[in-house]
Amino acid sequence: MSDHLKIFDTTLRDGEQSPGISLDVAEKLEIAEQLANLGVDIIEAGFPIASVGDFDSVQAIANAVRGPVITALSRTGFQDVDRAWEAVQHADRPRIHVFIATSPIHMAKKLRMTEEQVKAEIVAGVARARSYCTDVEFSPEDGSRSDVDFMCDVLQAAVDQGATTLNIPDTVGYGVPEEYGHLIAHIFETVHGDYVISTHCHNDLGLAVANSLAGVQAGARQVECAINGLGERAGNAALEEIVMAIKTRSDYFGGIQTGVRTEELARTSRVVSRLTGYPVQYNKAVVGRNAFAHESGIHQHGVLEDRETYEIIDASTVGQEAAQIVLGKHSGRHAFADSLAKMGLRLQGDALNQAFVRFKELADRKMQLTEADLEAIVAEELGTNAVHRYAMASLDVHGGTQSTPVAKVVLTDGDGKVDGEAEGNGMVDAVIAAIAQATGVTGTVVDFKVSSVTGGGDALGDVIIQLEAEGHTASGRGVATDVVEASGRAYLNAVNKLVRLRDGRPRERTVGP
Ligand code: KIV
Ligand code: ZN
Repeated sequence: MSDHLKIFDTTLRDGEQSPGISLDVAEKLEIAEQLANLGVDIIEAGFPIASVGDFDSVQAIANAVRGPVITALSRTGFQDVDRAWEAVQHADRPRIHVFIATSPIHMAKKLRMTEEQVKAEIVAGVARARSYCTDVEFSPEDGSRSDVDFMCDVLQAAVDQGATTLNIPDTVGYGVPEEYGHLIAHIFETVHGDYVISTHCHNDLGLAVANSLAGVQAGARQVECAINGLGERAGNAALEEIVMAIKTRSDYFGGIQTGVRTEELARTSRVVSRLTGYPVQYNKAVVGRNAFAHESGIHQHGVLEDRETYEIIDASTVGQEAAQIVLGKHSGRHAFADSLAKMGLRLQGDALNQAFVRFKELADRKMQLTEADLEAIVAEELGTNAVHRYAMASLDVHGGTQSTPVAKVVLTDGDGKVDGEAEGNGMVDAVIAAIAQATGVTGTVVDFKVSSVTGGGDALGDVIIQLEAEGHTASGRGVATDVVEASGRAYLNAVNKLVRLRDGRPRERTVGP
């Protein structure tokens, strides 16, 4: 049995099914490039039949991202399989991932099909995928709640039709480690042929990583997982936790290795958090801001004597070095670009100019800017490589406990200017109303998060807003030393993204797994 564990990243497919996440093509490409940089084996780029936006993203990733296998999800129907192939065919190493549910409840209530009909679908769907592509994965959805004999029967049928990977989804996170491990071992004993078994565990009981690792112990050599544990409902197994468990406990896992460049884990986590608008919880294993922080005196003392007293992972091996002070208000454009390049953020032309102007504005108000600050500035200025329609020229806000808050905003719109003035029930509300008036885009703020980028009284306020309007959802991020201004910037970025979505191609999902 191979000692290489394939890491199959599904951040862009299952991860994007997290409530409220909506990534456009440019954002998905940026994440896919970083996943390639991270060294994952397979990127699940999306579900092409689901929407035009999904198709475009899968195609763009297949055409541009080199290194990993690029896979597209498909139900068993020929229309799905054909669309998946159309999207993924130009990848260096394309894969089609075919799925259909096999549990009694899904077959009866969702598919309204008998076991025989489902098996016939699998035979036809896998054969169709195989007619296009030598790399075909099959998943019996809700596998952990399926009848084991029926599931093994259809898995054998899939292998007989040429499937090379058998993925066993714990779709609703119902499995427990020992049981899931036994299931994987049983499949190995029962299904004959040349295939790799994969795990796909959801986190409804907080067991996704434990179940995946039990699967690995039982012989699985592919794990499906997502950065920051994103995914439907409570999410998928967190990629960073799987990879670091395998690395840190290689004694227990018999020397199995992944090809992941672990020093890129923290950066990948930040890129995904920035583009999805999903914050990483402070105490999240491996990539959380507190994952290597020691609060108690006894622990601090121990770590000063010998790091290994209280740390099983060296922070630098996951890219979590203490944020160094990088720049201040006297730093020039060259030093700024240089620092960004070291962080893997390669900006050029207008994008670099825009980010540098913001950096100077902030450096005037904040003594020292750290790596995290720089990343937040770039996140706000660009969000993605796409061009913003509106930019904030000026903002004035007045208010207090004794007067109605009022905001005035002036925005650049191409070569011209637009402005708005409005009252609100708070300063942030007034700013949002003024921007809505200036841009003509009115929506509902469905989520609003405020945090600080680093510590200290002059820390940058970091605001993430999710805005729903005209049938689209968009997230925007803003940073400033003042949280009211950061909120306005975040709102404006969400408006910019909505305008792009509105004027681009539709991406509403018509179907979903
Ligand atoms: O959870 C699940 O069953 C899935 C499949 C489509 C693989 O995401
Ligand atoms: Zn899933």
